[in-house]
Amino acid sequence: MLSYRHAFHAGNFADVFKHLVLTLLVKAQLHKEKPFCYLDTHAGAGRYDLSSGMARKNREYEGGIGRLWGCRDMPEEVGVYLTAVHALNDPDRLRFYPGSPCIVRHFLRTGDRMILCELHTTDVAWLRDEFAGDKQVGVHHMDGYQGMKAFLPPPERRGLVLCDPAFELKDERARLLEALAAAWRRWPTGVYAVWYPILDRLTVDWFHRRLKRSGISKMLYTELRIFDEDLPLRLNGSGMIVINPPWRFDEQMARLGSWLWNALSAEGQGGFRMEWLVPE
Ligand SMILES: C[S@@+](CC[C@H](N)C(=O)[O-])C[C@H]1O[C@@H](n2cnc3c(N)ncnc32)[C@H](O)[C@@H]1O
Repeated sequence: MLSYRHAFHAGNFADVFKHLVLTLLVKAQLHKEKPFCYLDTHAGAGRYDLSSGMARKNREYEGGIGRLWGCRDMPEEVGVYLTAVHALNDPDRLRFYPGSPCIVRHFLRTGDRMILCELHTTDVAWLRDEFAGDKQVGVHHMDGYQGMKAFLPPPERRGLVLCDPAFELKDERARLLEALAAAWRRWPTGVYAVWYPILDRLTVDWFHRRLKRSGISKMLYTELRIFDEDLPLRLNGSGMIVINPPWRFDEQMARLGSWLWNALSAEGQGGFRMEWLVPE
């Protein structure tokens, strides 16, 4: 039984960081004419109504997209990510926040394809509504780790995988590590982005150590922390593992990460960090 609902958290600082990274990776896929395939293993509902009871319960979006909406002076790449948010909204009112499927769909070209896996029955129904009749999008009521087995490598041999679990199960990290290493062995040239929560440093260090030993190469992590890690029970930061990042992604991210930390951090707490786990 899944209890996690992303609608409570949509548009928070962790989403903004994850979706900015996702936008950079998708835009890099567009540099070549050859079509690409996007696999979202834990797709969520697709879009979120920020005026709903769930979103308004803790108003997490106010500390994330709420701080960027209406911001005039920003790096070009942040502006590109925001075009996907603006596409769902009237110019003067932020009401809907796009989940990863709607963000990526915003940038797809005619020949590109998107595969979405989601296990929650309500969220998968919303996804089906969102993309009804869209021939470029396949929605699957399916375990995302099974999806990695079933859909990788894609026939296009070019593409991007987002793995964004809810981390509500105790063995989530172990399952994720196993599925990721197996997918990479079958398709070592794919670009993979994996989101992880930062609550305490010990758990994150353990996760990084396991990744280093996984055999996967060309892999970095990037982290935005908006709080100091002194309270392990709250979400202090948002991390992304990127495998096979595009050329100069690390330079781009170093610049954007500092900007985003300035925009989103709580009174100068936390920080931005990026490091290669396994270099090229
Ligand atoms: C963090 S949310 C995804 C958010 C989405 N990727 C986005 O950025 O907008 C995680 C989602 O994974 C779903 N989920 C949990 N376990 C799953 C599994 N094994 N396979 C597929 N989906 C799963 C949850 O129902 C939830 O909607």
